[in-house]
Amino acid sequence: MTTENHLRHVQSLPVFPSGAGKIPRLNAVILGEALASEENDYVFPSQEFSRNAHVSSPSEYLEMYKRSVEDPTGFWGDIASEFYWKQKWGKEVCSENLNVTKGTVNIEWFKGGITNICYNCLDRNVEIGNGDKIALYWEGNDLGFDDSLTYSQLLEKLANYLKDVGVKKGDAVIIYLPMLMELPIAMLACARIGAIHSVVFAGFSSESLAQRIVDCKPKVVLTCNAVKRGAKVIGLKDIVDAALAESTKNGVSVDVCLTYENKLAVSRENTKWTEGRDVWWQDVVPKYPSTCDVEWVDAEDPLFLLYTSGSTGKPKGVVHTTGGYMVYTATTFKYTFDYKPSDVYWCTADCGWITGHSYVTYGPLLNGASCIVFEGAPTYPDAGRCWDIVDKYKVSIFYTAPTLVRSLMREGTEHVTRYSRKSLRVLGSVGEPINPSAWRWFFNVVGDSRCPISDTWWQTETGGFMITPLPGAWAQKPGSATYPFFGVQPVIVDEKGNEIEGECSGYLCIKHSWPSAFRTLYGDHERYETTYFKPFPGYYFTGDGCSRDKDGYYWLTGRVDDVINVSGHRIGTAEVESALVSHPQCAEAAVVGVEHEVKGQGIYAFVTLVEGVPYSEDLRKSLVMAVRSQIGAFAAPDKIHWAPGLPKTRSGKIMRRILRKIASRQLDELGDTSTLAEPAVVEQLIALADK
Ligand code: PRX
Repeated sequence: MTTENHLRHVQSLPVFPSGAGKIPRLNAVILGEALASEENDYVFPSQEFSRNAHVSSPSEYLEMYKRSVEDPTGFWGDIASEFYWKQKWGKEVCSENLNVTKGTVNIEWFKGGITNICYNCLDRNVEIGNGDKIALYWEGNDLGFDDSLTYSQLLEKLANYLKDVGVKKGDAVIIYLPMLMELPIAMLACARIGAIHSVVFAGFSSESLAQRIVDCKPKVVLTCNAVKRGAKVIGLKDIVDAALAESTKNGVSVDVCLTYENKLAVSRENTKWTEGRDVWWQDVVPKYPSTCDVEWVDAEDPLFLLYTSGSTGKPKGVVHTTGGYMVYTATTFKYTFDYKPSDVYWCTADCGWITGHSYVTYGPLLNGASCIVFEGAPTYPDAGRCWDIVDKYKVSIFYTAPTLVRSLMREGTEHVTRYSRKSLRVLGSVGEPINPSAWRWFFNVVGDSRCPISDTWWQTETGGFMITPLPGAWAQKPGSATYPFFGVQPVIVDEKGNEIEGECSGYLCIKHSWPSAFRTLYGDHERYETTYFKPFPGYYFTGDGCSRDKDGYYWLTGRVDDVINVSGHRIGTAEVESALVSHPQCAEAAVVGVEHEVKGQGIYAFVTLVEGVPYSEDLRKSLVMAVRSQIGAFAAPDKIHWAPGLPKTRSGKIMRRILRKIASRQLDELGDTSTLAEPAVVEQLIALADK
């Protein structure tokens, strides 16, 4: 959609409060005045909320949006000037080529600007008087275990240690830690010295960790000996040991494994140790001075690498650089959550995913926010834990994933209503489309119909929010991410790449770059171009389907590639298939996503066994184990469907369309099966469906 059309849509939005008379006709409710019901298409911010918001009306948004796309140098330049730059960037804020037919894809923001994101998160906050403000509240897995650090205390000693063991600007460091405060501390320490951190979610298996170590060859791996999650103790160090042994076999050995002793889980006496390589964090880090000179970096120097799943087996190392990412995550955090200095903010995501990078660590700290880092599981010791934490810390902004909302919804409202939750002001959702019934429950029950919900659509690749409500500016519609953020120009294209205007459905692309766009895939710029820029030349292709309604609201409809979204975690079907076929008794596997009541999507695997091997429950379990140990427990298939054969075209291509229909039991929608090499396979699969 052209910018003009987008602007026209926003202009024609019902404007509250002048539209008060129109509200019943619009099937609308106003924050704080009533519950949102199925008839309500629109949920308006209250006058009071809007009046106090950073952006309080569609027209105010419109003015800012227009400037952001027509004069990015002025718009982003003004915002960037609020940060500390050792040296200012060049004349234009951005130079880009997104069109593969015109040469190499290239995106640069604030080029020539010299800065440091850790300095801007910490030192700058201390300088402006936030030194004694709590930066991080830590809430442990078990009730009664907590801690906190102020902005001054976060200026920690780890950076000096890393420098001392030889980590230099541009070196990679792998961080495999659970949600201890040491995780954001480690990220900030790397950023401070210009090292590139790569956080690996501590639910990944040793094989996945090894794959990432081999790819980015880190100088140091940072981990802890173990973690408690719910009632379970997980030996992270054992996983790291296995990963390091595996990487050594593949020619990559790591000199230092700095291990935090997490006494609450396991003592050091009970931790396996490799002398010469393993070092206890608590033995060395405190010996260093707490000040560490900042390594000034170019705006385009890499800040971090984060691996994510794609359509093929090998995870992609998404590369984010410093300047644009800093400016964009800070700005999106401020406007999307209508952040004010008095807020207490809690994002339930783990720093192992992009949400934890941009909206647990960098975005909030750049704004001087007080944030919660929660180690545990949201239903431990019971389903009221989240609201217990909200009341304990007076959380005012609560950002989570639809999967958690749905799982808590199942536990019953009494777990929510026995807590006050009065402090809540803004709610947020991320990771997958939030179905309207979960939206309403979140809104009515958790937020007492007082709190707007920012349903933020974005991706590992985008670094920050792309399509999202600005909570005081316009009415929300349950299930829609609403409108693009400043500077973001979404377009919906058809299969041929033609932009479609107005009310429509198609593939979601983005025209022009935005400051926190990823710049490349680590070591594979060609794959970057092929995956994201070749499908629709001139645009960034998101991999998502999307529709736009008559009011110009965007509705994300899910992935259109072979990526499954399980509980907001992206899993490539090819990765699961390759784990399954690594099992000696598995001949072939085809994995598809199916609707899942809590997880959004579940993993459904069709498995063909080696000739002569009989199906058995033990074999089913060991196939699931193969996936758990190669990827991680979160990728374990929900269903194994025995398949004597798979539906293939005559050229041997697996017909996933048919498999998806069988998996979701939409058997009358199988479509034409006559072109299959062996049409009878379909009947066999249906017969085995519930075996
Ligand atoms: O399909 C979209 C879905 O999650 C994908 C990105 O996954 P990942 O890179 O792991 O990042 C997740 C956290 C940003 C997208 O391509 N997605 C994310 N947020 C939403 C969403 N789908 C619909 N609505 C959302 N709010």
